[in-house]
Amino acid sequence: MPTIKINDVELSVNPGTLVLDACRQVGIDIPHYCYHPALTPVATCRMCLVDIKGQPKLATSCTTTVPPAPKDKPDAVVMEVFTNTPAVADARAGVMEFLLINHPLDCPICDQAGECKLQDYSYNYGSGDSRMVEAKRHYRYEDLGAKIVIDKNRCIHCTRCVRFTREISGGGELTVANRGSRLEVTTFSGLSLDQNPFAGNVVDLCPVGALTSRDFRFRKRVWYLKSAPSISRCSALGNPIWIDHEGNKAYRLRPRPTEGKETTLFITDAERYAYEFLNRSGATPAPRLKAAPASAEAIREALQATGTVAVIGQGTFGCDTAQRLGELASAADLRYGSGDRTLPILLPRFQTSADGILNRRGFTERGFRFGALQELLGKVQQGEVKAVVLLHDAAFTSAAETALLGQILQAAPFSLALEVAPSDLGLQATAWLPITNHAEESDFIVNHDGELRRYQKALQAPKGIRTVPAWVKELAAVPALA
Ligand code: SF4
Ligand code: FES
Repeated sequence: MPTIKINDVELSVNPGTLVLDACRQVGIDIPHYCYHPALTPVATCRMCLVDIKGQPKLATSCTTTVPPAPKDKPDAVVMEVFTNTPAVADARAGVMEFLLINHPLDCPICDQAGECKLQDYSYNYGSGDSRMVEAKRHYRYEDLGAKIVIDKNRCIHCTRCVRFTREISGGGELTVANRGSRLEVTTFSGLSLDQNPFAGNVVDLCPVGALTSRDFRFRKRVWYLKSAPSISRCSALGNPIWIDHEGNKAYRLRPRPTEGKETTLFITDAERYAYEFLNRSGATPAPRLKAAPASAEAIREALQATGTVAVIGQGTFGCDTAQRLGELASAADLRYGSGDRTLPILLPRFQTSADGILNRRGFTERGFRFGALQELLGKVQQGEVKAVVLLHDAAFTSAAETALLGQILQAAPFSLALEVAPSDLGLQATAWLPITNHAEESDFIVNHDGELRRYQKALQAPKGIRTVPAWVKELAAVPALA
């Protein structure tokens, strides 16, 4: 492995490693705008310049790679990089001044303020002064469809968004038009980003506030938001996300990339805009027994009065939930899995599974059998199973499976549904208990690749709503089930 020196610190890296990445490995963050690990490097912003010994000019660290070592000296120092010379500082200040020539000073009303690379780098590497006395160019903001808004005044022409629509999502809706100071990012005429199911990612990619999300625009200053590490519940990929929240309300979901895992860099718009379901509204649901409000004790006693219990766990919940729910079953073979949603594969490079059931693997590992609900119906009809406990979310079950689950609930002498909010199916059960949604609890899942992914509580559930393990503890106090 060749050795390089970065500010006199020696480091062995694979040949072909980007200098920018090598610097990161020794804890030096090189400022950059146009570089993104998933996009073709274009080296247009010039913010990542570094000094390389023996080279007459500064070099862009986002396109310069570490050369291989000579065969007879495999550990030789092949490159000496300096990131802190006066020439580098001068170049960065010059780039910042250039980028700010036309950038408006509208940080007080810009949604990016607080997480803006232009602000950060200007503070860290800029000169603090402007020699610009001419009028700045001015555009009115434009809608790029219903989801995304562009403010061209703020654009620094890094082209990350353009490259994303060409190289990743594939629609090529965005382009750069005109030249020089009139250069602008726009859509090809007639195209909007609405047809692009990955469009929301351009907002994350934009290092400044030029591209903003219509549903988050002007809603919350980002420094008030807290971020909880979570996962997307939309598919068996279990993509890592951040839940940005404040005042017990989720405001947005963003990808939470995992080092070395390309599939975690982007999320679909379906995953991104699923945060509204996490915020509760209306009256808090309460336990019910035979269509009337009831105490948990009454439900426990009703369950206590039945015989053999089978459980149906929908694979969209966490492993701890699956484990505790499984303990309610009277026998190991009375754990059944449900959930049969599948998703269209839109981008095979990033969507490696069509399974729409988040934790199918985790439930299977805990003894839940999927595709066996017909068997359970037979057992209930023959009187072998007296009570059925169903953990359910209506969004992940097809009409056919919902009908089958309805038959099971109807046939069972006693049934109990555990749901976040009452569904038509859940209300068919003899008893109903309210449970936390996945933003209101901490747990983990095993995704379809067998990777364990944890998620943490972001929101506080209303009083009276409990996690499944907490309800199971309450129900397991039944002597017959303990
Ligand atoms: S809109 Fe944002 S991401 Fe697109 S080119 Fe301009 S600054 Fe870059
Ligand atoms: S990040 Fe290297 S030139 Fe833009």
